[in-house]
Amino acid sequence: MVTLTVDGLEISVPRGTKLLKACLDNGIYIPSLCYLDGMDHPPASCRLCLVEIEGRPGPLPSCSQTVEDGMVVHTETDEVRLLQKTAFRLLVSTNDGKCRLCMANKHCEMQKIAKFLHMPLRTKKLRHIPKDMPEVIEEHPCIVYEPNKCVLCGRCVYICSQQNYDFALDFAKRGFNTTISFFGSREEGVGDYCRNCRACVDICPVGALNLKDERDAFLQNLQAKISA
Ligand code: SF4
Ligand code: SF4
Ligand code: FES
Repeated sequence: MVTLTVDGLEISVPRGTKLLKACLDNGIYIPSLCYLDGMDHPPASCRLCLVEIEGRPGPLPSCSQTVEDGMVVHTETDEVRLLQKTAFRLLVSTNDGKCRLCMANKHCEMQKIAKFLHMPLRTKKLRHIPKDMPEVIEEHPCIVYEPNKCVLCGRCVYICSQQNYDFALDFAKRGFNTTISFFGSREEGVGDYCRNCRACVDICPVGALNLKDERDAFLQNLQAKISA
């Protein structure tokens, strides 16, 4: 076991544990999107899980740090919060903030992080910059993808590769218009590498991937409530 101090609290975790997991397992919440338990090489791309570690320069992503004996960690410094809020603003810039119309409403990770950081999901101060692509992409026979909700955390890509030892979906395009795309063979078309295990749908933290049937039922139900 390794013993370290986080925000003044002494915790002990198995050697080799990622710092983010050590904190979460001990009830110390740190916002995160791109890390999943078991990742050997986390992408550290969302930049939300930053912490300060005494003796090391600048805030560092806790998902890519391995715990060490005697480590002293601070998760609540002004610099950490400032950088987390900046990362959060960028992540919500493509989102229209219509949570009420979203299947992930009330269990969306971005809502949880917004509450934690005391940040709104949408205000006039935050520019809404939708991606240059359709609101809803329905190329896959069973799965619907909403690029403006997607925070590009890569969880879906990771879980698909882990469960299926193959990539039925991956990142596509570049820069601001980076997106998730399903692959398929020339013969069968998009989605025929997919085993319809729905792991990507279940792991998405923001409801950007949904099964078509479930989304249709949700929208019908919503419409019925609005017209009632
Ligand atoms: S449903 Fe399963 S196999 Fe298909 S893309 Fe998602 S994770 Fe991969
Ligand atoms: S679709 Fe969901 S899980 Fe996949 S990258 Fe976007 S936000 Fe992450
Ligand atoms: S969870 Fe660490 S950078 Fe995303």
